[in-house]
Amino acid sequence: MSLLTIENLSIATSQTTLVSGVNLTIAPGERVGLIGESGSGKSLTAMAATGLLAPGITAKGSVILGDTQVIGASERKLNTLRGRVAAFVFQEPLTALDPLMRVDRQIAEPIQRHAPHRLSRDAVHAAVLKLMHDVALPDPERIARAYPHEISGGQRQRIAIAMALACEPQLLIADEPTTALDVTTQAEILALLDRLVRERNMALLFISHDLPVVATIVDRVVVLRHGEIVEAGPIASVFGAPQHDYTKSLVSAAHAFDAALGGTP
Ligand SMILES: Nc1ncnc2c1ncn2[C@@H]1O[C@H](COP(=O)(O)OP(=O)(O)O)[C@@H](O)[C@H]1O
Ligand SMILES: [Mg+2]
Repeated sequence: MSLLTIENLSIATSQTTLVSGVNLTIAPGERVGLIGESGSGKSLTAMAATGLLAPGITAKGSVILGDTQVIGASERKLNTLRGRVAAFVFQEPLTALDPLMRVDRQIAEPIQRHAPHRLSRDAVHAAVLKLMHDVALPDPERIARAYPHEISGGQRQRIAIAMALACEPQLLIADEPTTALDVTTQAEILALLDRLVRERNMALLFISHDLPVVATIVDRVVVLRHGEIVEAGPIASVFGAPQHDYTKSLVSAAHAFDAALGGTP
């Protein structure tokens, strides 16, 4: 049984087709990368997985998340899947956070919403601190009382990850989660995601335009270009022996960058 099965997915506006013929399957615990240049359809594909496409954009084909056909499902049905079956981490943590709400209340929100019964204040607070501890936030009591602008970008992304973990999703969809961060923080967040996915036996859909970043965290990769899959396979074969010209250019750009930094390709 797979957790996510996308078959022949097309995404279009009334004017143009943005994604076409995409097939993508993720089994429980599996880590898959989705790569491609900006505008290639990565985010649209991920949003379609949980029925989050903007008004005016329609999806065709089949998207089965857990045991539910997402295309055509009601918002009510989709809300039971979001957070619990699949949860998102976005590029810019500020989009996930309310600037006017203290961090602890924001983490508490998904905990309370998905709790099977009403939780006491103390129970919520304990659950919030536990999640903050899980994402390795320093000084959680202080950060819990802070507003998003009072903490660093890396800390904000840890908060957004904590919120995504709140309902114990089976699949974590991370859409360029490190792109907005400086290189050191990027490495820390990658290491954190790697650990959390392993410890919690989650599946991971990791989206990036950056092949070397993807290669550190996934087993298998799907390459999108202009809304279509041009190549897919285990990271070692796509990285080691790319078939499509576009993938070859991604790989050689990555090697050139690495060489310029004095690293080994
Ligand atoms: N709401 C929208 N309306 C019209 N076009 C859109 C919309 N959202 C995205 N697109 C277009 O669809 C294409 C793919 O977008 P996206 O999936 O966000 O790319 P990526 O995440 O790979 O950078 C782009 O050309 C983008 O301009
Ligand atoms: Mg995107």
